[in-house]
Amino acid sequence: MNKKMTINSIQKTKGIRPLVMITAYDALFAKLFEDSVDMILVGDSLNMSFAGRKDTLTATMQQMIYHTNAVCNGAKNTFVVCDMPFGTYTNKKDALKNAIKVFQQTDADCVKIEGGADKADIVKHLVDNGIAVCGHIGLLPQSVRGEGGYKVKGRDPKEQQQLIEDARAIEEAGAFCMVIEGVISEVASEVASCIDIPVIGIGAGSDVDGQVLVFSDMLGLFEEFTPKFVKKYINGATLVKESVKRYSNEVKTREFPEDMHTY
Ligand code: KIV
Repeated sequence: MNKKMTINSIQKTKGIRPLVMITAYDALFAKLFEDSVDMILVGDSLNMSFAGRKDTLTATMQQMIYHTNAVCNGAKNTFVVCDMPFGTYTNKKDALKNAIKVFQQTDADCVKIEGGADKADIVKHLVDNGIAVCGHIGLLPQSVRGEGGYKVKGRDPKEQQQLIEDARAIEEAGAFCMVIEGVISEVASEVASCIDIPVIGIGAGSDVDGQVLVFSDMLGLFEEFTPKFVKKYINGATLVKESVKRYSNEVKTREFPEDMHTY
């Protein structure tokens, strides 16, 4: 069994080796992932791939706490990050109240917050009150309705400068690491090189301090849409559908159950 990562050991990987993060929403998958990853993210992406909603914005604290408990139960030896859902950290008071709920009602090791310099005061308030924070800059899925779509960041000098300012502000506020999403590779690389905490990329190229993928994307379980940055390691949807089809046929033909499955 691997040794569970800590904030300290996560930070020490910077410049040494890339961090491996994956999402999970339940105990079953969390347990399967545990031996191969450094960190599990209970992302609010669960609202899309688990709950079937169109985006992450309708995820609730109740949902995040339920799924974080399931993941912590399945992966007791892994560092778990719980996403703070949209609208739960718009001011310092609410952010602290909701982050405390995560720490009191689950075994999560930190919370994740979307936003850059505009959220630095909130990150600082949480850190000052004993809550470990993972930042999330670049393309922010919780801003999809406000921005009118998922837009890759860092294409022009103004956005590039903003990303660097965001990263510096979140680091200075006390976040111990951050996710950078949907950013031009060279810009993400520059962001990672100008701060001292690990920058974990998704759709941000290879020259950052780690990678995170949504598990249902990389296992090929989510069929509707595959973003360019996703590598499908197996075609999970086909495997699942073929297996259930075989089961269905075998039940109908009475091939299943066999003697070996019978008391
Ligand atoms: O919710 C999520 O799964 C995330 C990842 C896309 C980083 O925030």
